[in-house]
Amino acid sequence: MKRKTLTQFLIEQQRGAAALPAEVRLLVEIVARACKAIGHAVGKGALGGVLGSLETENIQGEVQKKLDVLSNEILLEANEWGGQLAAMASEEMETVHLIPTHYPKGEYLLLFDPLDGSSNIDVNVSIGTIFSVLRAPAEARGREITEQDFLQPGSQQVVAGYALYGPQTMLILTVGTGVFGFTLDREVGSWVLTQENIRIPADTKEFAINMSNMRHWAPPVRRYIEECLAGKTGPRGKDFNMRWIASMVADVHRILNRGGIFMYPWDAREPTKPGKLRLMYEANPMSMLVEQAGGASTNGLQRILDIEPAALHERVSVILGSKNEVDLVTSYHKDA
Ligand code: AHG
Ligand code: MN
Ligand code: MN
Ligand code: MN
Repeated sequence: MKRKTLTQFLIEQQRGAAALPAEVRLLVEIVARACKAIGHAVGKGALGGVLGSLETENIQGEVQKKLDVLSNEILLEANEWGGQLAAMASEEMETVHLIPTHYPKGEYLLLFDPLDGSSNIDVNVSIGTIFSVLRAPAEARGREITEQDFLQPGSQQVVAGYALYGPQTMLILTVGTGVFGFTLDREVGSWVLTQENIRIPADTKEFAINMSNMRHWAPPVRRYIEECLAGKTGPRGKDFNMRWIASMVADVHRILNRGGIFMYPWDAREPTKPGKLRLMYEANPMSMLVEQAGGASTNGLQRILDIEPAALHERVSVILGSKNEVDLVTSYHKDA
């Protein structure tokens, strides 16, 4: 069987009904190349001196791991010169990164969580890179890009995807025509299409949530999980299984492959913070992927992709995955 590479796939998307712009195709190729480099560094681990923490904190108030910073640098360097971008933004940078004046500027904005699952780096558990592409507003062309230009709802994303550095290195991508999975052929160095049109089953018996926070959740989330835990004799009439990898990329990857519901809800310890996860770098790209695969994604009250962001590093409560379960948890919020 002839194997299709990422390049071939993207060219088909350019020529097909999606009419993917050539600049977006190039941009995705460059992001994928950067992910290959990050995956390579991840794979070296202690041998490459990439494990462990730095003494710095990021804008989120988290201690930065060496790989958080290295991955951010790899993505910036790879994407600066290509000519497709107007600016970039990242979980690890306080504000937007403008394209240096000596490089040509394009009309797209790239956002990323350079290394997702930081707490898993030093224990050799799957981690990843999440990315999202927006178009700069038309009126921003020709002037300097500001944070404001990034504050578009997730429904405006042109591309969303992630790379997963696990037993295999994979790239999961949507350009708005379904979700496609590529596996890195490590010998040849190319991304090979291995999953076409990924679909999330509407029903599931598996949930992913950090159960240690249960006592801090809002009543609708607690109700949903308590009902799952009640098993066959409870209101759901079936037994549920639990999985929590603590790398959103890996948890979402499992859900894309066999269904499930993922939640990182609001927490009473920090009542003014909507949630832990970041809207622009985590929730929006993952929500686009999940919706493109037939799943659903809300913050309990509204579709995440409809949220009008107010700040670049805005946080959000996340409930995503198998549609019927997400709808159920969302209905519990609406009843409350
Ligand atoms: P990051 O490493 O990019 O800061 O994100 C970590 C996130 C996400 O990947 C994961 O679902 C969650 O944090 C895990 O949180 P807990 O440690 O509370 O389980
Ligand atoms: Mn982080
Ligand atoms: Mn993350
Ligand atoms: Mn991160």
